[in-house]
Amino acid sequence: MSNAPTVLQKKRPTVAVVGGGICGLGIGWRLAAAGCKVDVFDRGKAGREASWAAAGMLAARVETEPGEEPLLALNLESQADWPAFASELEAASGLTLDYRDEGTLVVAAHRDDAAELRNTYEFHKSLDLDVTWLTGGQARRIEPHLAPGVSAAVLSEGDHQVDNRQLVLALREAFLRAGGTLHEETAVDAIDIEGGQAKGILVAGERHEADMVLLAAGAWSYDIDGVPPAARPPVRPLKGQMLSLQMEPRAPIMDHVLWGPGIYIVPRRDGTLILGATVEEKGFDADLTAGGVFRLLEAAWEILPQIEELPIKEMWVGFRPTSRDDAPILGPTPVDGLVVATGHHRNGVLLAPLTIDAVSAFMLDGTLLKSIEPFGIDRFAVRQNRTASTGSQE
Ligand code: GLY
Repeated sequence: MSNAPTVLQKKRPTVAVVGGGICGLGIGWRLAAAGCKVDVFDRGKAGREASWAAAGMLAARVETEPGEEPLLALNLESQADWPAFASELEAASGLTLDYRDEGTLVVAAHRDDAAELRNTYEFHKSLDLDVTWLTGGQARRIEPHLAPGVSAAVLSEGDHQVDNRQLVLALREAFLRAGGTLHEETAVDAIDIEGGQAKGILVAGERHEADMVLLAAGAWSYDIDGVPPAARPPVRPLKGQMLSLQMEPRAPIMDHVLWGPGIYIVPRRDGTLILGATVEEKGFDADLTAGGVFRLLEAAWEILPQIEELPIKEMWVGFRPTSRDDAPILGPTPVDGLVVATGHHRNGVLLAPLTIDAVSAFMLDGTLLKSIEPFGIDRFAVRQNRTASTGSQE
């Protein structure tokens, strides 16, 4: 018999994940890499909803609006994690994410817009954010194709971008390489909860047992059966119409992420130029509309007239998973073993590193990172108990 000390291996939980987007695949990757048996279920192809529809902006600074101050620290923390996270995921998957750090430029399309831009700039400065005021001429030296009418701009060197579709593919690959099992085109019927404890999921009429269940179904997270009201993440779809144009990759017309009134424009290395996005309370209405696409093109053309000749590549609709306070819902629920990661609103790609690390840490050993404590489902408890009796989501 060996005299070596016995090393007690902690038994890793088995995990069923509902939703194969950035959250589901990413948390699944971490858990599988730590030795858990992980099954991810997606009603379609993994990562083809909000994760695929996004533009990949990592814009903690310029996207912060009044009222979102409580979210800023979380966004900045995740943004700081991004470069190391990208390198780690690229190594784990063998795929590139096309992380780009040229920075983000917010412009005033006309003289009238400059006053509003100045207000936003002062607001961001009051939050101690590192942003720089530029004249129109200074902005055109950075991006020469900006319209002559652009009268002022703000440069945020710390706001970057990543190719979110590459991110999805890389997370999928890393998850599979770590030993995870992916069930695509497999809709989950319900979460199986007995005696206040998650026991697994019901899928295609069968029971799939698991020690823990992660609910990460984006805008669909409210609609999974079997979950009591207090554990149902109150998220709704917030529709966004988007399109992309095709630049000549060897002669791109811009390098920075660009924001103007009613528009953002994101250049990719392959010449794709993404234009987004409408923000519409239309439920799961997936229609592209003439008005939506027209307004995006018009707003883009006003600040970057060179788009006029570019061919249209693709048009699509995505559904942001949005909670009542526009902040994510992360971590434990009142049901033992049922964990949530959803409600990322406009910040799903930005918050990916922190969400993935924090939620997987909780699922592995119960550690609840301080930074996600304010973003638990319990913050909706009172309101949910009230609405549970009326049966409405509000
Ligand atoms: N974060 C950009 C959007 O939601 O449209």
